[in-house]
Amino acid sequence: MNKYLFDKLPCGCEVTAYEIGNDTVRATILNYGGIIQKLLYRGTDIIGGYDKIEGYRVSDGYQGALIGRYANRIRGGRFTLNGVDYQLAQNESARGNHLHGGDIGYDAKLWDVEYKQDCDGEHLILTLTDPDGTENYPGTVNVRVTYSVCGENFSIHYEAVSDKDTPFNMTNHAYLNMNGIAGGQIYDQTLQVNADFMSKVDEHLIPVDKVPVDGTAFDFRTPKLLSRELMTCDDPQMVIGGGLDHNLYITTDEATLYQGKKLSKAAVFAGKLGALTLYTDKPCVQFYAANFMEGEYPFKGGLKREKNGALCLETQFAPDGPNRGEAILKAGDKYDYTALFRFDV
Ligand code: BGC
Repeated sequence: MNKYLFDKLPCGCEVTAYEIGNDTVRATILNYGGIIQKLLYRGTDIIGGYDKIEGYRVSDGYQGALIGRYANRIRGGRFTLNGVDYQLAQNESARGNHLHGGDIGYDAKLWDVEYKQDCDGEHLILTLTDPDGTENYPGTVNVRVTYSVCGENFSIHYEAVSDKDTPFNMTNHAYLNMNGIAGGQIYDQTLQVNADFMSKVDEHLIPVDKVPVDGTAFDFRTPKLLSRELMTCDDPQMVIGGGLDHNLYITTDEATLYQGKKLSKAAVFAGKLGALTLYTDKPCVQFYAANFMEGEYPFKGGLKREKNGALCLETQFAPDGPNRGEAILKAGDKYDYTALFRFDV
């Protein structure tokens, strides 16, 4: 493990970078937001991000960051739990939704970090106490996220316990490009998803139905090119999303055993560098093709940020779960989910 001072926050607090991995996969993780700042696959960086902490603070794309307490959207920022009405920040102002944990989510917190090495590989254990009432959510939650690099596997293990019932749904917002992040738009890359169903959304990008992908632009059951034509096609759901920005329900017919858990094969994302396969025990994945990634502030090394310059594969519960009685972490229960990114060797 290599550890160094990455930058300082305006408050003077230090942001530390931790580098773990091997010749196939190498990850640089920041204690700020648990951000994956670099992800090298056979020496090529495949993840969006910045050279300075300012980039992460001025951009609104959650580049590489941990997302919580509730990833994705909650309609109107409102939900009712155990007879109590809650109003969260409507920080996605254009649609009036609560998005990715609110005004100050897990992506903007300083996490404690511990390093561990064993015969499987290297691990960074990030912990955070999220106090009762933060962002108006009920309950104090103790959160623990373990990033591991074990051979060709890069994994994120999410664990949490709350002292009150609370909505809880964590993910990571890595923007990946399998030609390398300097490799341009993803139009020549392919995506295959083991999903028969998707969330049909309304104009606020809130699910209104669970529908089959048959006959839609979202049938990725065989590998499909993430072409410009696909993402600008006239499928009404594609139009509403401004491109690919949708939740798919993962089938559980193919699995792998990893760190003692059975994880379903969710997706394969492939480009010039090779393929990465996503496995998870979460029921869903949000596929977001960086539809709003263009912007003034440049990426690492002065790289231009471009629309469709990457793909996010965000393991999650379906959006707006608390308004369907889903994605509630009960007091004292253990939240325990994994996302495994397995690279070709
Ligand atoms: C959402 C997008 C959003 C992006 C960045 C994704 O998880 O689905 O709609 O623009 O995050 O905030």
